[in-house]
Amino acid sequence: MNTQNQTTQERRDSAPQGSNDILAARNVTKRFGPHLVLDNVSLSIERGKTTVVIGPSGCGKTVLIKHLIVLLRPTSGEVYFNDSRIDNLSEQDLNEVRTRFGFLFQGGALFDSLSVFENIVFPIRQHNRVKDWSHVEDIVKSKLAMVGLDGFQNYYPANLSGGQRKRVALARAIALNPEVLLYDEPTTGLDPIRSDVINELVLKLQRELGVTTVVVTHDMTSAYKIADRIIMLHNGKIVADGDADHIRNHPHPVVQQFINGQVGEDDLAILRMTGTASQTQFLPRDFEA
Ligand SMILES: Nc1ncnc2c1ncn2[C@@H]1O[C@H](COP(=O)(O)OP(=O)(O)OP(=O)(O)O)[C@@H](O)[C@H]1O
Ligand SMILES: [Mg+2]
Repeated sequence: MNTQNQTTQERRDSAPQGSNDILAARNVTKRFGPHLVLDNVSLSIERGKTTVVIGPSGCGKTVLIKHLIVLLRPTSGEVYFNDSRIDNLSEQDLNEVRTRFGFLFQGGALFDSLSVFENIVFPIRQHNRVKDWSHVEDIVKSKLAMVGLDGFQNYYPANLSGGQRKRVALARAIALNPEVLLYDEPTTGLDPIRSDVINELVLKLQRELGVTTVVVTHDMTSAYKIADRIIMLHNGKIVADGDADHIRNHPHPVVQQFINGQVGEDDLAILRMTGTASQTQFLPRDFEA
C-alpha cells in the first residue's frame, strides 16, 4: 500500500473510502471550546494492517482514536466503519458497533476490585455474548493463553506487574473477538524488554486473529517494529503518512525533531524564558510538575 515517495496529500487523494478500508475519518475537526485539537483530518485505515499514530504529547492522538469508535463525536466531519457512517448513531447503536472493537486504554485500566477472570468476563457479560456459560472458563483461558498469562485467572490487578496488567487488559480487549484493535500507548511505563513483549503481542494478535490494528505511541522503537504505516499528527493535522522509511527520511523538520527526540525551537524558546509561576502553564506536558 505504501510507497516511500508518496506525499501525505498523494496518499489521502489515492486512498478514498473503499472495500479495503475498514475505518475512515473524513474532514474531522474537533474543538473543545475555543481549543482546536483536530483540524480537518482525513484518514483511512486499511483492513488487516497495523497503522501507528505518533506525535508529541497533547497533539491529539488519543482524541483522534477516540473518534474512530466515536467515544468522542466530531465538531464537524464524519467517521465511517465498513463504509457505514457511525458518528451520527445513537449511543445504543454505537454500543453494538463498539462490540466489534477492542480498545486498550491509555494506562490500561483494569477494574482493581475484580480478579483477572472477572475482568475478562466483564465485556462478555455486559454484551450478553455467551449462551452457554459453561464455556466461559474455556473462553477466558484461551484469551489469557493468547497473552501468555493462562493460570493468572484468580490474581487481582494489584498483584500483577505493569506489563502483566497491560497483557490482561489486552486479553480483555480481545474477549469479544474484535475486528479492530485500538491501542493507546501500550508500552508507556514499561522497560524496553517488557515493551518488546507488548510489541510482539501486537504483531501476534494481528497475525493470528487477522485484526486491523491502530496503535498510538510516542515510542519510535515500537512504531518501527510494528507499523505497516505511520501517521504523524502535529498542530491538529497529519504532517506525515507512510511506511517506516518514508517517516525516517521525511523532510519536515517537525518529523525529524520528533523521531530523533530533539526539542523544537518553540519549546526551547519557552524553556529559555525566566521562570515565574504563571509561566509554568506554557510548559509542554512532559515538563509539568
Ligand atoms: N474531554 C476533553 N475536554 C477538553 N479538552 C480535551 C479533552 N480531551 C482532550 N482534550 C485536549 O485535547 C488535546 C489533545 O489531547 P490528547 O489526549 O488527544 O493528547 P495526546 O496526543 O494523546 O497526548 P499524550 O501523548 O500526552 O497522551 C489536549 O490539549 C487536551 O487537553
Ligand atoms: Mg494520549
